[in-house]
Amino acid sequence: MQKSPRNLYLAMFLISGLALSPLAVSHYDDKEPAQSYRQSWFALMAANFGPMTAMVKGDIPWQENEMAAYADQLAALVTLDVMRGFADGTDKGTTRAKPEIWENKADFAAKMDDLTAAVNALQVVANQGTDRKAIVEGVAATGKACKACHDDYKSKNYLY
Ligand code: HEC
Repeated sequence: MQKSPRNLYLAMFLISGLALSPLAVSHYDDKEPAQSYRQSWFALMAANFGPMTAMVKGDIPWQENEMAAYADQLAALVTLDVMRGFADGTDKGTTRAKPEIWENKADFAAKMDDLTAAVNALQVVANQGTDRKAIVEGVAATGKACKACHDDYKSKNYLY
């Protein structure tokens, strides 16, 4: 295929049009990149953790290989630096992140570390696959780490 500048400009126009369109379905708001970054990360976490809790509760059939795959995805996600999304000056905007986060950064970061530890432990037992009780406990411990932080630092509704 020939790559003419005209086609390139057309492609760029189409892409920027998508990003600016108010109808675009996206978590990404380019005026609030940090807020979008962290919220997208949490959405990905929930998209992988949700089916795991559903299996534990028996809402969907238990499948060892899927449990392990979701645990691997969670473990991959916790390698990302989500604290980047909580940089100073990013407390306002379209967000449910309470201002206390920026007043207690060390405690907030420690709760994030607790989540990382829980997810890494869950990945190990989920990949062993044999000890269902240990997997259930690992899912519960991970859920507890989510909740411990939400209780202190996540508002139910948008704040601003
Ligand atoms: C260290 C704190 C912390 C931990 C741990 C944590 N969260 Fe959150 N979560 C937050 C904060 C703060 C927000 C609000 C972010 C915002 O609105 O800017 C949030 C938002 C969310 C959202 C809404 C995202 C959106 O679309 O706006 C979901 C879903 C979510 N968390 C799920 C989870 C799950 C699932 C876990 C555990 C696997 C988890 N969180 C662990 C602090 C945490």
